[in-house]
Amino acid sequence: MNDVAHAATRVGADGERLAAIRTALGAVIQGKPDAIELLLVGVLAGGHVLVEDVPGVGKTTLAKTLARVFAMSYSRVQFTPDLLPADIIGAQVLDPRAGSFSFHKGPVFTNVLLADEINRASPRTQSALLEAMSEAQVTVDGVTYELPRPFFVLATQNPNEYAGTYPLPEAQLDRFLVRMGIGYPSAEAELAMLYARQRVDPLDAVKPIATGEELAQMQAAVRDVEVKPPVGRYLLSIVAATRQQKDLALGVSPRGAIALFRAAQARAYVAGRPWVSPDDVQALAGPVLGHRVALTPEARYSGRDAELVIRDVVSGVRVPL
Ligand SMILES: Nc1ncnc2c1ncn2[C@@H]1O[C@H](COP(=O)(O)OP(=O)(O)OP(=O)(O)O)[C@@H](O)[C@H]1O
Ligand SMILES: [Mg+2]
Repeated sequence: MNDVAHAATRVGADGERLAAIRTALGAVIQGKPDAIELLLVGVLAGGHVLVEDVPGVGKTTLAKTLARVFAMSYSRVQFTPDLLPADIIGAQVLDPRAGSFSFHKGPVFTNVLLADEINRASPRTQSALLEAMSEAQVTVDGVTYELPRPFFVLATQNPNEYAGTYPLPEAQLDRFLVRMGIGYPSAEAELAMLYARQRVDPLDAVKPIATGEELAQMQAAVRDVEVKPPVGRYLLSIVAATRQQKDLALGVSPRGAIALFRAAQARAYVAGRPWVSPDDVQALAGPVLGHRVALTPEARYSGRDAELVIRDVVSGVRVPL
């Protein structure tokens, strides 16, 4: 079997399981299929996700449910101004009886890490986490420790609270594959949510559907999803157009192009399709590229937002047939 045929078989086999995973997530987070899809795209592409939304829309629930569905470990860190890098990655501690130091692992040693209100910690602490995210390891006093695999970070920010925060610089936002919101559920979904929680917590009913090891295999299989050259060129035309767009002071970098390529593969995979369609690229341009561009001051003052500008860019690029 050639590579493409092999990938097709693999994607088909995982398709059913992914559908079950989406259903399980959807039973807990109601009326939010798009948010669930973006989360899975981030996870399956081996990336990390930044969720910008107001309190109470299900961010914690989403991270916990994800960990359960893949039978993975989960931990949460609340970021605050006095949080130190060692509070996340761990530190050497003295064992008085043995008279020697041993490494005490921080909460980052987990499969799913919820980093709540990441913009409330000092830049130094933020960068300790971001470094762990990009390297999948931490180094303390010259010794390197591997993080568990898979390793996935869901970081949150409240979009309406900037007082006393340290906004992540663009170079660090780049470490997140996807930036997304969740949003309020529809009236109908919210009503279903009320009754689903009347006596029980639906989170307690979530059963593991796959293991972390199987997730790692799926992540590897995502890279075999085919991207035909016309679709690759289409993706790059969108990237190139962001560099010409008058509302953008800074367009998408080659790293951003790679991110969109990989995310598009993951979206196809989540849909059980062994090849990327232009649709995957279009749907992900906003969530993958929006935080990798900088608006001009004029665009910002006139109330434009990066995702909207990216959407304009996409609509101006000819779609391959
Ligand atoms: N779309 C939804 N479907 C089902 N339940 C929801 C939805 N949105 C929120 N909830 C429920 O609302 C409650 C609060 O959710 P959760 O704690 O996950 O919010 P959060 O975004 O993490 O809030 P915070 O910013 O305060 O940490 C939970 O019981 C959660 O299940
Ligand atoms: Mg929460």
